[in-house]
Amino acid sequence: MKLLKGKKTIAVVCNQWGDTGKGKFVDYFGEWADIIARGTGGANAGHTIRLGNKEHIFHLIPSGILYDAKGKINIIGNGVAFDPAVVEHEMSLLKKSGCSFKNLLFSKDAHLVLPQHLLLDRIKESKAGSDKIGTTGRGIGPVYEDHYARIGLTVNDLLNPKIFEEKLQRNLRNKMVVLRQYDKNVIKKIMQHEHLGSGLFYDAKNIFNIDAIVKEYTRYGKLFKKNITDTDAFLRKAVGKKKILLEGAQGNLLSIDHGTYPFVTASDCTVQGLAKGVGLRENDVEMTLGIVKAPFMTRVGEGAFPTEFGGEESAKWCGTPGINKETEKEKFGDLSLDQTDDFKLGVAVRMKGDEYGATTGRPRRTGWLDLPFLRYSVQYSSSDVIFTKVDVMDTCKEIKICVAYEYTGPEYIVGDKVLKNGSRLNIVVTDKDVLKYCKPIYKTFPGWLSSIRNLRKMKDLPQKLKNIIKFIEKEAGIKVRIISVGPDREETIMVDG
Ligand code: IMP
Repeated sequence: MKLLKGKKTIAVVCNQWGDTGKGKFVDYFGEWADIIARGTGGANAGHTIRLGNKEHIFHLIPSGILYDAKGKINIIGNGVAFDPAVVEHEMSLLKKSGCSFKNLLFSKDAHLVLPQHLLLDRIKESKAGSDKIGTTGRGIGPVYEDHYARIGLTVNDLLNPKIFEEKLQRNLRNKMVVLRQYDKNVIKKIMQHEHLGSGLFYDAKNIFNIDAIVKEYTRYGKLFKKNITDTDAFLRKAVGKKKILLEGAQGNLLSIDHGTYPFVTASDCTVQGLAKGVGLRENDVEMTLGIVKAPFMTRVGEGAFPTEFGGEESAKWCGTPGINKETEKEKFGDLSLDQTDDFKLGVAVRMKGDEYGATTGRPRRTGWLDLPFLRYSVQYSSSDVIFTKVDVMDTCKEIKICVAYEYTGPEYIVGDKVLKNGSRLNIVVTDKDVLKYCKPIYKTFPGWLSSIRNLRKMKDLPQKLKNIIKFIEKEAGIKVRIISVGPDREETIMVDG
């Protein structure tokens, strides 16, 4: 592959709010790599893996597992929130379809998702009212909280039941103080959730049945014994010798450190966080490819999205429990992209792009590509970009690109700058109290109005689309290296051949 010539370690991350099609490119580069490693996020991520003729959503085992039989090594790194129940389930799916996983390694230092994390994630969200983040309910926030509070348990603890129990007791003492404030019936209900062993860990008096947790997690220890190792040391030895692909999760704009705080996940989804989460240095990564959905983009969960089709109406609709692919289809039927109503355009784009959460089934909020966000985000990855889902807009008559914002709020101090009503912002200020007053300024382009799915060369793309790509490259200071024109592996254009 010309693009990766001479490279040994590369990373694929997302420059937006996740769900940009990383799975396709991890699979694409998985063929090139000897080792595929994840270092961030947890079961909040989701990628589709086809086993036999059935599609499955995987959350933790890297997409590169399909190359296991070819001797490639897949790693769940130290920075991942490791949920043993999810991993066991994914292993059983692989086993059932005869897909090998003999080269699958788990970092001994990855932090464990425990029943209390799943309970706390769900209960806090259910009580947060308008402060809710819209989490995936996979316990992610509470796991990283424990990590930083220095009371977390790691994968290695699965191998030492006595130490596991001591650490669990200590961790739970800490949690009980918080949990006592909540309604017992709500707790009981959440503890019956299938992600919490369908009641296996519940004790009516003490909330948690410690013996049941120890027993189940000791069983995981035995099950995973062969997979658990010092993956940091393994990867450090491999750097410069083997071809390593680092698989990002979520996206820069959801990074705890650089995203649209507080509406973010709890790990650092940038390439810095990813390298750290597999025990490498950032400068071990020779090429970072950042994915950008274009010329529309999406977001799941709460948080500002200035270019959202249909604005607040859409945010509210997409956040309504029970709305999913089926209910939307029933309500709206088949919608073309020829919509004059912005909200309906959003629904149409969602349907056309099949934009429903892999982990939760929630409808993804849709909107126009936002350059103030893109300019900001590439600062945390690189200027090498992959455009995905471009074909979704094949039938759209008019394409809008947000080139800047007009700030419409009261005077507000941001560091050494003062924002005033009418200020222009070319690069985003991720502060939610600024974002809520950011009015997009658009540049409009005519749509290319032809199918690009069969095209494989940059020179064959319609001129109108080439003009849009050129404009984005210049305005955002990026170089588009790859264009994805459909979900299949072959539906890919390598810009420089
Ligand atoms: P959490 O990661 O479950 O704590 O959720 C925090 C925020 O990140 C919510 O807005 C989620 O919708 C969002 N989020 C988490 N994982 C993903 C993902 O894989 N794709 C898109 N959004 C995600």
